[in-house]
Amino acid sequence: MCGIVGYLGRRDCADVLMDGLEKLEYRGYDSAGIAVFEGNSIRTVKTRGKLKCMAQKLAEDGKPEGFCGIGHTRWATHGEPSDINSHPHSNGRVTIVHNGIIENYAELKEFLTEKGYSFVSQTDSEIVACLLDYYYTGHDRMSWGASPEGRTDAPQSKLAPDPLRAIMETVKELHGSYALGILFKDFPDRVYATRKGSPIIVGLGQEEYFIASDIPAFLKYTKDYALLDDDEIVCMEKSGVGFYDVHGIAVKKQIHTADWDIEQAQKCGFPHYMLKEIHEQPEVVTKTLDSIVTDGVPDFSGIGLTDELLRGVKRVFVVACGTAMYAGIVGKYAVEKLARVPVTTEIASEFRYMDPIVGEDDLVILVSQSGETADTIASLELAKSRGARTLAVVNVKYSAIARGSDMFIHTLAGPEIAVASTKAYSVQIAVLYALAFRFAYARGIMPESEMKRLTAQLYGTSKAIRDVIDNKDECQFIASQLMNAEKLFFIGRGFDYALSLEGSLKLKEITYIHSEAYAAGELKHGTISLIERGVPVITVATQRHVLAKTVSNMEEVKARGATIIAVCRKGTEFAEGTVDIKLELDIGDELDDMLIPLPTVCALQLIAYYTSVQRGIDPDKPRNLAKSVTTE
Ligand code: G6P
Repeated sequence: MCGIVGYLGRRDCADVLMDGLEKLEYRGYDSAGIAVFEGNSIRTVKTRGKLKCMAQKLAEDGKPEGFCGIGHTRWATHGEPSDINSHPHSNGRVTIVHNGIIENYAELKEFLTEKGYSFVSQTDSEIVACLLDYYYTGHDRMSWGASPEGRTDAPQSKLAPDPLRAIMETVKELHGSYALGILFKDFPDRVYATRKGSPIIVGLGQEEYFIASDIPAFLKYTKDYALLDDDEIVCMEKSGVGFYDVHGIAVKKQIHTADWDIEQAQKCGFPHYMLKEIHEQPEVVTKTLDSIVTDGVPDFSGIGLTDELLRGVKRVFVVACGTAMYAGIVGKYAVEKLARVPVTTEIASEFRYMDPIVGEDDLVILVSQSGETADTIASLELAKSRGARTLAVVNVKYSAIARGSDMFIHTLAGPEIAVASTKAYSVQIAVLYALAFRFAYARGIMPESEMKRLTAQLYGTSKAIRDVIDNKDECQFIASQLMNAEKLFFIGRGFDYALSLEGSLKLKEITYIHSEAYAAGELKHGTISLIERGVPVITVATQRHVLAKTVSNMEEVKARGATIIAVCRKGTEFAEGTVDIKLELDIGDELDDMLIPLPTVCALQLIAYYTSVQRGIDPDKPRNLAKSVTTE
């Protein structure tokens, strides 16, 4: 969702901000803007539309010249995408950029209106600028009672205007989530920031400092960074960076060094991030497995996930959103099949409000690429409050979910920039398979030799994924057959069903073709009425023990005119006339059926990618979607 950047240093601030915003484009946005100190005044340039609209506006209006400023990409929540609703927002002596949602904005707006403030935008964010100004210009908290009725006009404070104090007072009144970059007109060489629920990372360069929603925004300039915790405030000025807690007391922060460089966050010759990230899968799967495998078997004892703990687990919940949740479904099938432990996969936004029956004997696995997804964070807190053990499977080290869970497995996909998740999904399922093996072993169901064999097979998926990528022309051909479809279906059974869900999501996300995924046997209970002549049905048919059943379901839809695209192992035979296009995965016979989702998902990703490109869509930035969903 929204992206925040801020800079203080000796470089051209507008350039640094625009560059940083470009690196945050993946988060999804509909408008953008920057505010830069030009001498002692702040000049704001903002517009609806993509960064190229901003670049055009800067070219027309002139770029603000200065060394200190903030920038923003907005993903509209309150108020339509428009020039006026774009950030930065200014009120009085304060200019801000905001990521998140201020839930009590209506109440605050009413109060501030009574105090004589007026507003130009429809956003919740402008209220924050205003409230900051209210406190900055000398009102104190006495004017706010515990209840709205208790408020009285406060006497003007005798204290000199103090940005830190104004921020501390303001955040006490805000309900909801926020990351804020703040400029005070009277301090032309300072950038402030604070956060709650939405990330702010502080980049620490040589006499130059950055704030950003994510590391790639400043990685070009520095690899050193500190993480702002909830309720903390940072002040960047020429003499250095100060961190403060909610009471204004200085705090010392740990400095981290990013373990990946700017190349990893760039396209490296690929036309899109998504294609690059699909190609990275063989490598990142191996890298992730290397980090959790010792002596040929998965071993999680280093993070506290011991065999003893696994033996004691009565139930497992996998809680996540979007693609990560679909990875959880593969995990459910694997853990239940091998370890015979009941696993429930839950959508985080449901889990958090459904009063789940979860407690001390349960293991709750939070799966997330970003580690910052609001609903998954809330589910983690809920699971902890009920006494469950929590395990994060997360791609971003030091993210809220990684830090908040009892145990953390770091998936090593590296930075994933394309909105549609690909390599993060693959490493998530690789970890969940490895976990299933260890689970089964710990519970005495699987001998060590079998755990070793399966782990070697899991490593083998890396080569199988590469083989699929080598045959990408076939996926490109299938895409050419799909590009004009109005709707389509994915069907499969077992692991193939789990994959169909992800394949269908990927395709609809980036092609805008309506796609549904169905358990192959379920189609005739209703959805088959949507099948008519020429509707493509992508059948994932890799699971040999249910192949005959899947074939029957293919025939049912074929009889109603569907065009069947079968994704199967090389050499799979179908009766004549059943299949229109066969995508045979040339991955060898040895790979266990259970592990085929790893290479197969790659084929589905490539089909989605090429269909998107052939329809003239930018697969990296599908409309309306955000990479990192930091609000409910
Ligand atoms: C958004 C993204 C999806 C992602 C989901 C969960 O919807 O567009 O690609 O799967 O959030 O994100 P997470 O970072 O928790 O995996």
